[in-house]
Amino acid sequence: MFSTELATVSYIGATILFILSLGGLSNQQTALRGNLYGMIGMTIAVLATVFGPQVTGAGIPWIIGAMLIGGSIGLYAARTVQMTQMPELVALMHSMVGLAAMLVGFSTFIDPEASKGFVGAAKSIHEMEIYIGILIGAVTFSGSIVAFGKLSGRIGGNPLLLPGRHWLNLAGLLVVIWFGREFMNAHTIADGMMPLMVMTVIALLFGIHMVMAIGGADMPVVVSMLNSYSGWAAAATGFMLSNDLLIVTGALVGSSGAILSYIMCKAMARSFISVIAGGFGTASAAPAPAGGPAQPAGEVFPILALETAELMREAKSVIIVPGYGMAVAQAQHTVYEITKLLRAKGVNVRFGIHPVAGRMPGHMNVLLAEAKVPYDIVFEMDELNDDFPKTDLVMVIGANDIVNPGAQDDPNSPIAGMPVLEVWKAKTSIVMKRSMASGYAGVDNPLFYKENNRMLFGDAKKMLDEVLTALKA
Ligand code: TAP
Repeated sequence: MFSTELATVSYIGATILFILSLGGLSNQQTALRGNLYGMIGMTIAVLATVFGPQVTGAGIPWIIGAMLIGGSIGLYAARTVQMTQMPELVALMHSMVGLAAMLVGFSTFIDPEASKGFVGAAKSIHEMEIYIGILIGAVTFSGSIVAFGKLSGRIGGNPLLLPGRHWLNLAGLLVVIWFGREFMNAHTIADGMMPLMVMTVIALLFGIHMVMAIGGADMPVVVSMLNSYSGWAAAATGFMLSNDLLIVTGALVGSSGAILSYIMCKAMARSFISVIAGGFGTASAAPAPAGGPAQPAGEVFPILALETAELMREAKSVIIVPGYGMAVAQAQHTVYEITKLLRAKGVNVRFGIHPVAGRMPGHMNVLLAEAKVPYDIVFEMDELNDDFPKTDLVMVIGANDIVNPGAQDDPNSPIAGMPVLEVWKAKTSIVMKRSMASGYAGVDNPLFYKENNRMLFGDAKKMLDEVLTALKA
């Protein structure tokens, strides 16, 4: 059992490990170590909490029982989830953090033991913690459920833009502030319950409205923003439970999620403030459903695997641009086999990674690391974009939106202004995908019709296997 002193020391140790973990995760070479620090920190944190001074003996079996059930579900979900379904799982997990913050808020409010000893200013602060904690929790919960629905295709990707939506949000905020005052002035639990319930319903509706108003192309920012919200919800829970470690951990997740959202906003040329306010960058056009047939806009030039191998053999410099389709096809290992072969022949092969390629931050980096592609040939978009005019061949593997020139040329495109990899500037580009279907944003891609572009139609893994066989022959 942990004494108060030992629990405090353990909490400080866990906090340091979490900070080291975040530091480690910022770089591919140290990411493994970062994960390890995080796992050790979390084990210490859980042990110090469950066996710490705040939990009485009778509560331990309940906690362990709940952990076993929750842990088994989590383990099952993590083992069975497809890599491409990861963002949905993450959104669902964020919703759990929001739900937990709401439940802790309500139980803290109705438990007379939890408010014992709070008088005067301390009582007001305690009540404010409950009110704000439930507010953030409810927004995170409903927003994440809608994000899960959108990412998994259960809810359509089109933005729902209610008339006067900003006024609606503002009215909701004013009502929440008004009922906050009522809540703080309530003398009994029964009196406080009504304003608390009204605020919860408004917060749940705001969460739904906020994410429903966001178009498919902007979902990456929403995922990282909800990540940040879930951190603040956890921090609020920490305040309600007087648990310092939860406050620090929540703040770490909240702020790192906010930084990630900022980076994503920059990558997609969106305004950070309007993202936080909800319903942004969608007024110009409503995207068609992802994967739907694109409007034919010219002639395309198909190519065979054999000819692709031939072009590769002749090239001196090759840039590979992977996208969501590489993840679906699980083609990363074959891509690396081809890379090794070309590099052995002296070809300069590099990878160009767009910040929102795939369906979650770092999606492509994870896949390439899994295939053991060396980090020093993997570059970010900004590092490579000037090199395309000097490149002989670009292989676009299952990517679409991130190489769409329309983002630069068409101001009415839903992805207008989003920085893209300028692959069309290379001598030749080859796009590998199964059909002419659009990508996540549901827009046609003028790249497919460029004279220096070729289309290698088929499943990325199957086609790359054929290219590899041809290269070896
Ligand atoms: P997308 O634009 O979605 O394009 C992927 C392409 O892969 C599709 O056009 C599809 O065409 C092709 N494909 C699918 N399965 C394939 C297979 N088995 N073999 C070969 N090709 C296959 O992907 P992207 O270029 O990576 O861009 C990412 C998009 O997702 C952006 O719009 C981004 O905003 C959004 N998004 C990103 C995130 C994060 S955080 N990264 C989160 C949510 C949404 P076919 O059907 O013709 O094969």
